[in-house]
Amino acid sequence: MKEIDWSTLGFHYTEPDYIVRSAYHNGVWEEPYATKDKYLHLHVSATCLQYGQEAFEGLKAFRGVDGKIRIFRWRENAKRMARSAEGLYMAPVPEELLGKAIRLALEKNMDFVPPYGTGATLYFRPLLIGTTPRLGVGPGRDFEFIVIPSPIGPYYPGKFHCTSFIVNRHVDRAAPYGTGTFKVGGNYASSFRATEAAHAQGYDCLFLDSKYHRYIDECSAANFIGIRRVAGDSQPCGGYEYLTPRSSAILPSITNDSLMTLAREKGMKVTRRHIRLEELAEMSEAAACGTACVISPIDQVLDPERNKVYRFGTEPGPVLTELYHALRDIQFGRAEDRHGWTEVFEN
Ligand SMILES: Cc1ncc(COP(=O)(O)O)c(C=O)c1O
Repeated sequence: MKEIDWSTLGFHYTEPDYIVRSAYHNGVWEEPYATKDKYLHLHVSATCLQYGQEAFEGLKAFRGVDGKIRIFRWRENAKRMARSAEGLYMAPVPEELLGKAIRLALEKNMDFVPPYGTGATLYFRPLLIGTTPRLGVGPGRDFEFIVIPSPIGPYYPGKFHCTSFIVNRHVDRAAPYGTGTFKVGGNYASSFRATEAAHAQGYDCLFLDSKYHRYIDECSAANFIGIRRVAGDSQPCGGYEYLTPRSSAILPSITNDSLMTLAREKGMKVTRRHIRLEELAEMSEAAACGTACVISPIDQVLDPERNKVYRFGTEPGPVLTELYHALRDIQFGRAEDRHGWTEVFEN
């Protein structure tokens, strides 16, 4: 085990011993291999540099209560990466190759898997880049697939706490039917102006749909979840509806998909539809969700142009807290994995 203070790790890069690489030339992927070299020898005119032909993913391995290491839903990340690749006219990384590369990255960096009980995990960043030199605008036909592991700290060191969001109608993240449903670097670069402006004011950025600026799209780099009371008082989740946006510009979150399944199992109504910003007033709880944080409860959303604040209380609400623990328990092996979401890593 590495000498790392797991409790102070944030969502920051910690240099692993090895990364894993595989190149694609003439229609063939090479066998993935581990290397200590973290630098690429890349042509200055590579399509990833010139035209942003790149896609990435994010997933985690968890050391469980039983000491076993579980990789969470990596096949879903592989499918999403294949969609992103097609979206940017790149060769998709075959699912089995991605799985092999993740397992190799884990095997070669076992000392970086944080111990159970610290809340820290081993994060994997699969990355796909276009490497063909090109000056004329167009896609390349050579690619490099890389898996970069890094231990990351608990999103909430100490306790599960809330974040505040601010609405931005001046910078759009992605166009309807553009690249918003793909996990590609350009979406993030184009959102930096809005997210940095929000951070400067002490908020995260809530993106509205780019066409009407009326519906909720994404919470910075996470999906939105709203909880609304619908009927009865059945505890703890039964009388609530789980609402999440339908949009042609947001990333289909694997965490959101998992939480929707758990919410249905707890008797909640689950609805994916366009959600008007003003509907926040009818919600008892709201959150951002994604691999990094699982659920990040929202205490307030400020809409400065309409002079409006939507408040959800300064403590995480009961429904989201219940869903958060349900998913964490599966990831850390404390609850039965009835959906086959985790793959135990056999070394
Ligand atoms: C833009 C965006 N939306 C949503 C998510 C959440 O997706 P997931 O739950 O698969 O991590 C992410 C993180 O990957 C993201 O970058």
